[in-house]
Amino acid sequence: MLLAWPKGPLADTLIPVPEKKPTTYWDYIKLEQLTALQGGLADSDEEISNDEVLFITVHQIFELWFKLILKELRATRDLFRSPRVAEQELSGAVRKLKRVTTILRRCVSHFEVIETLTTRDYLSFRDKLFPASGFQSRQLRQIEIVLGLRDEERIPFGSEGGYVAALKEPDGTASVSMRKVQETVAEGESLSEAIDEWLFRTPIDGIGPEDPGAAIALDRFLTRFLENYAAESDIARNIALSHARNQDEVRRIDEIYSDERASVGAFFNPAEKKGGERRRRIRAAALFVETYRELPLLAWPREVLDSLVEMEQQLTVFRQRHARMVERAIGRRAGTGGTAGVAYLDKTALKYRVFKDLWAIRTLQIRREAASDLDNPDYYSFLQPE
Ligand code: HEM
Repeated sequence: MLLAWPKGPLADTLIPVPEKKPTTYWDYIKLEQLTALQGGLADSDEEISNDEVLFITVHQIFELWFKLILKELRATRDLFRSPRVAEQELSGAVRKLKRVTTILRRCVSHFEVIETLTTRDYLSFRDKLFPASGFQSRQLRQIEIVLGLRDEERIPFGSEGGYVAALKEPDGTASVSMRKVQETVAEGESLSEAIDEWLFRTPIDGIGPEDPGAAIALDRFLTRFLENYAAESDIARNIALSHARNQDEVRRIDEIYSDERASVGAFFNPAEKKGGERRRRIRAAALFVETYRELPLLAWPREVLDSLVEMEQQLTVFRQRHARMVERAIGRRAGTGGTAGVAYLDKTALKYRVFKDLWAIRTLQIRREAASDLDNPDYYSFLQPE
C-alpha cells in the first residue's frame, strides 16, 4: 500500500496515512452504472422511446425510495421489539416515521410525472410488459409485511397462490424477489405487533399489566372514560337534534348516535377471536396515551402513535393516487399482472390498514376538559416523587 508522508514541521512526529484516491461524484453515486439501467428489454438506449424510459425511470425512483422506507421501518420495528423501549429512543422513532411519511408524500406527487404519458403513449409499449406488473414489486410487499399486513387480509386477485406465487420465475422456480419476501416473513414480529406489545405494557393510571390490581385499574379507567365519552356524545347529539327539521331527521340522528355508542361499547369488549382481554388493554392504553398526552412521559408515546397514523394515511393516499393515475392511463381494463386493474387497486386502498385501533380511537377522543383527571398523575412526570 502507498503511504503519503505528511509535510511541514510536525512531519517526523506524525504517523503515515494511506494514500487514498480523491473521491469523485461519479464514483460515489455510481453515476455510470445508474444511468445505464433504463434500457428495459432493449439492448441499447437508442432502441427505446423516451416514453418508455420515463416509465422505467419513474418505477426505479419509487423502488429506490421503497428501499429506504424498508430500512427505516425495519429499524423502527426492531426498536419496538425490545422488551423495554427507553423514553429517549422515542423521538428517534418519530423522526424515522416522519421521514417515511415525507418520502411517501413525494412518491404521491411523483405520479404527476408519469401522467405526462398519454394512454396511447403507454399502449405503444404496454403489450411487452405482460405478465409483469407493479404487483411483483417485492419491496412494496416487504413494506406491507414489516408493517404487519396479514395474508388473510390481502385482496385475492384471481391467481393461484397469491402474492408470493406471483413472484415465481416464469419456469416456476423461486425468484430472488420471492426469496427476499419469504425471508422478510421469517423475520417474525411486525411493527404493528411490536407496537401492540408496547401498548400492552403501558401503565394505565400508573399500573402495568403485571402489577397487582392491573385489571381493576384498567376497568376504572375505561368506566371513567366511557362516562366522559357518553356525556360528550350526548352534547353532540343534542346539538345535532336542535338542527333537525322533521321527525325523520330526529329518528335518523338518534339512530346514528346510538349505533356509535354501541360500537364504542363493543370496541372495548372484543371477542376472544379478536384478541379478548389482551386487545382490550391495548386499545385502552392507546386511548389513555391520547387522553393524557400533556403529561411529560406520555407526550412522546403520543407522538409515536400520531406518526404511525400519519404514515399509514400517506400510504393509503399513495395507493389511492396510484389508482387514479392508472384509471386515467388505462381506464378500467384488466392489469398486465392479471388483476381487475383499478377495481383491485381501490380495494387495497380501502382495506390495507394495519394500525386499525389507532384510527378507531380517533372516533372516541373527547375534549381535554371533558376527560376526568387520572389517578396517579405523578407517575407520568419527569421527576418521580420521593
Ligand atoms: C402508466 C402507469 C401505470 C399503470 C397503467 C399501472 C397499472 C397498474 C395496475 C393495473 C396494477 C394492478 C396489478 C395488475 O393487474 O397489473 C398495478 C399495480 C401496482 N403498481 Fe402500477 N401502474 C403504473 C405505474 C406505476 C408506478 C409508477 C408505480 C411505482 C412504483 C407502480 C407501482 C405499482 C405497485 C407497487 C403495484 C402493486 C399494488 C398492490 O398490489 O397493492 N405502478 N399497476
